[in-house]
Amino acid sequence: MNYKKYIAQKIVIEGVGAEEIEEAVSVPPDQTMGDYALPCFKFAKALRKSPVLIAQSLAGEIGCDSVIESVAAVNGYLNFKIARKPFAEQTLARIEREGARYGSADLGAGKKICIDYSSVNIAKPFHIGHLSTTVLGGALYKIFNFLGYEAVGINHLGDYGTQFGKLISAYKRWGVMEEVERGGIHAINELYVRFNNEADEEMEREAREYFLKIESGDEEANALFEWFKSLTLEYVKGIYEKLHINFDSYAGERFYTDKMQPVIDELRAKKLLKESNGASIVDLEEYGMPPCLILRSDGASLYATRDLAAAIYRKNTYDFEKCLYVVAYQQNLHFKQVFKVLELMGKEWAKDLVHVAYGMVSLEDGAMSTRKGKVVWLEDVIAKCEEKAYAIVSEKNPALENKREVAEKVGVGAVIFGALCNNKIKDIVFSYDKALNFDGETSVYVQYTCARAASVMQKARAEGYAVGGACTPCDSEYELIKALAQFPDTVCSAAKNYEPSLIARYCVDTAQKFNKFYIDCKILQAEETVRAYRLSLTRATLTVLTNALGLLGIGVPEKM
Ligand code: ARG
Repeated sequence: MNYKKYIAQKIVIEGVGAEEIEEAVSVPPDQTMGDYALPCFKFAKALRKSPVLIAQSLAGEIGCDSVIESVAAVNGYLNFKIARKPFAEQTLARIEREGARYGSADLGAGKKICIDYSSVNIAKPFHIGHLSTTVLGGALYKIFNFLGYEAVGINHLGDYGTQFGKLISAYKRWGVMEEVERGGIHAINELYVRFNNEADEEMEREAREYFLKIESGDEEANALFEWFKSLTLEYVKGIYEKLHINFDSYAGERFYTDKMQPVIDELRAKKLLKESNGASIVDLEEYGMPPCLILRSDGASLYATRDLAAAIYRKNTYDFEKCLYVVAYQQNLHFKQVFKVLELMGKEWAKDLVHVAYGMVSLEDGAMSTRKGKVVWLEDVIAKCEEKAYAIVSEKNPALENKREVAEKVGVGAVIFGALCNNKIKDIVFSYDKALNFDGETSVYVQYTCARAASVMQKARAEGYAVGGACTPCDSEYELIKALAQFPDTVCSAAKNYEPSLIARYCVDTAQKFNKFYIDCKILQAEETVRAYRLSLTRATLTVLTNALGLLGIGVPEKM
């Protein structure tokens, strides 16, 4: 049952629509006031009455029933308290019934949503700067699937450009096949960095030639390029596996090589293309933006040209409801331009393209992602988190059996959660110690809470205790149940706002409420009926937190 809706339906205000009322009904921050409240100042103007009077007269009109326990007018607010026992009964029964599906929905049935994320660059380091796009996109992918959409994960590979000419030139000069085979992406990257450090005019010229060779289909150049690409992909796929990340397509920039000309023709036919110093541009001055460069004066296409082709291809192939681009805010202008050009081309679906922008990640010691030569590889950050997690777990519980496995869940969880726990647009400073703090607002705190709940359930099983039923919840039980009931709405808001951090914060908040309940209420020592009901609440918490962490790509160890 939807309580908010139920309450809203009881409220009748002349001249105000039911929808508007439902929108106004909210959960007050101070819950001693009530479970739901209607702020009446919103209607004061329309009714020409003070909020205090509106609240008072509404309070006199609305009767209590089996759902609403009390209605009171307080300072212009109409406060509702709902009957706790049936609420607890219904909520726990629903979680029990739906289990791993609790929180899911069929909102997106029959709809596709493309999510362009991680989008790595071939032969370049996969560094901490790629963390956010990878885990944000990965979480959105899971969240939309959970809501019934068919999410299409796209890794728009950076596999096009003159840098590959440089790489071939460097390899031919200094490369040794076995070393590159062994060193993989690290070896390729070293060659590339060396080229950039040592290149003179002659080498640059040679690199341009190799690039043209790739373009013109030269066999050797293409074989080398494909080799570099496969080494890069093999490497990143290892990291994706660790982070529980999936893709349905690896169609990168190169894939659009033969799909750009039709776009250029269409731009020209629609009289959108202008010549400017030999280059071809779409003028966007009218919209307060610099021009979108389509072809350079030497005829070469650009990043934007390929994104135009990609958007059209995706619309034709997937007929998406939305297409998300999970890319750092540094590319705000790029996406504004691309979306605008598509709009000018008359693509009415341009409105369905969304740039999901996020902030930068740096490490506590000031290390950034892209400084020359001093790159922080994501792989190293994950490994370090796992090592630290292993040390902590071993210290806390030396007898724990599968420490490595637990440390992996905790370490990987800390990396993911570290990138997802704040509003996505904020810049993040990643701190190992903070991310692995058992008492902080962290994944390990939530995981530990789950392990605690699991251990209670295990003891109950060993004793053969019954689980189920409901009593009238005391305050800390009630707070927890309310949080559990809030999960489906939280998932929807996370999707609607493209903001997985809402789920991350929800996890911490719910774990805190469980721990308060755990301290305030005896579970295993309570008398039979109360015990069965508290066990049911414990099990429901475990289900909900497991579902919630799962949407972020974080696993739950059974024991810690
Ligand atoms: N490879 C690009 C980069 O590292 C990101 C690509 C994002 N996706 C896109 N369709 N432009 O900056």
